[in-house]
Amino acid sequence: MNTPNYKEARKRTKNEVEIREFRIDKSLVELGLNKKFFLKTYGCQMNEHDSENIKGMLRLMNFQETFNINEADFILLNTCSIRENAHNKAFGMLGRIKHLKESKKNLIVALCGCMAQEEGVVSLIKKKYKFVNFVFGTHNLDDLPQLLKNSFEDKKQNINVLSIEGDIIENIPVKRDNQYKAYVNIIYGCDKFCTYCIVPYTRGKQRSRRREDIINEVNNLVKNGYQEVTLLGQNVNAYGKDLYDDYDLANLLIDVAKTNIPRIRFITSHPWDFTDNLVDVIKKYDNIVNFVHLPVQSGSSRILKLMGRRYTKESYLELFDKLKSIPGISITTDIIVGFPGETEEDFRETLDLVEYCKFDSAFTFIYSPRENTPASLLEDNVTLEEKEQRLYKLNDLINKYSKEANDRMLNKIYKVLVEGESSKEGMLFGYTETNKLVNFKGNLDLIGKIVSVRINDAKSFSLDGEIVE
Ligand code: SAH
Ligand code: SF4
Ligand code: F3S
Repeated sequence: MNTPNYKEARKRTKNEVEIREFRIDKSLVELGLNKKFFLKTYGCQMNEHDSENIKGMLRLMNFQETFNINEADFILLNTCSIRENAHNKAFGMLGRIKHLKESKKNLIVALCGCMAQEEGVVSLIKKKYKFVNFVFGTHNLDDLPQLLKNSFEDKKQNINVLSIEGDIIENIPVKRDNQYKAYVNIIYGCDKFCTYCIVPYTRGKQRSRRREDIINEVNNLVKNGYQEVTLLGQNVNAYGKDLYDDYDLANLLIDVAKTNIPRIRFITSHPWDFTDNLVDVIKKYDNIVNFVHLPVQSGSSRILKLMGRRYTKESYLELFDKLKSIPGISITTDIIVGFPGETEEDFRETLDLVEYCKFDSAFTFIYSPRENTPASLLEDNVTLEEKEQRLYKLNDLINKYSKEANDRMLNKIYKVLVEGESSKEGMLFGYTETNKLVNFKGNLDLIGKIVSVRINDAKSFSLDGEIVE
């Protein structure tokens, strides 16, 4: 049994990162014959992509996926720790599964992802959720096949979570959810240790994938007809720092652009590591989309300091203005309200910043104290009611600017990657480079292609348009 340990999880050394290849014992590949799995994913794109790897491994083992939880032989929850409500959702689901398990004794239940890396969660599972067969973490995704086999043979609860800095596992099989858009990991973990955030504890040290592995993956995607890649990392702007002397995200983007994949996205950018060179590269290459997600978190330099974000309101705005010089750029953000000690004045500064930046859209959150993080020890004298009021006020402003951004697109022509049939009959849907949802009439054979669409109606969260030749 290996249980998570925060002291180990926060360690950062200069030790070299081990890169290993995924291997599976032949004896495991028939384990899933005539069996079905149900996988539920919570959290960010990293988790979604981990789930694509999990599905890849399960497919290799001949399991079939089911979307009906009642017919599953194996249920796996890939969890997220970022806020309390992500926790609540996963525990709520475990409650439902407990009833299922009572009527289906051979059902195997497992939990993985970021919550598995939390000491408190694992001790609760050991005490109160004894029906969970096994738990594994973000550092040993590739242990899934063996853990699953053990559970079919031995019903004793098995906790196998590693609190290590982390290594890199190449060539885990993958079953992608989308035929045209693909996620590609470029950097794992995070070393920023923002004071409110649990990710550096759940995902380990910042470690970049080798550039040749990334380029090979993208080249294969191109060969298989993919139109878009999203380069993934908690902080993609730190790419290469741990691996190369003079090769960073800007260099990587140039090399990915040269594969000629039609669209390249990258998330998430921390303002701290955003270089001028990167701004120029985005400007120069057509297939690097004019879209940057640039979380600001707060408009108050005092709160940013308490958050450990390492930039001020002024330096954020300076970077923002540089990015705005790129024609057609769309910038989105994340904002936390109600950080411990946030005053009305601090909050006012956040509203002012939003008024200045007029973000195309934003994810907004009420601060949620996370176990073991420095911010969770700060005195929090803002009431929940006040926090909710602030969130409503902020969302009103954000929605106003989202609608304005959409209105600005009226009567203009945009490239849209067609993804499928819309819920409205006879309509297709797709996304612009700036990730705006567009509905329009068209033939099914356009699915998977990039077409030009003129926007003729703008709503708050989507656009309607018509194809132009
Ligand atoms: N690595 C990215 C995003 C990480 S998580 C970055 O640093 O920008 C996505 C968002 O969740 C964060 O940007 C932040 O706005 C929010 N978040 C993280 N921890 C939180 C917490 N404890 N309470 C509320 N929101 C949180
Ligand atoms: Fe969390 Fe900050 Fe790292 Fe983002 S950069 S994952 S908010 S610690
Ligand atoms: Fe959640 Fe872990 Fe992603 S905490 S946001 S799933 S890195």
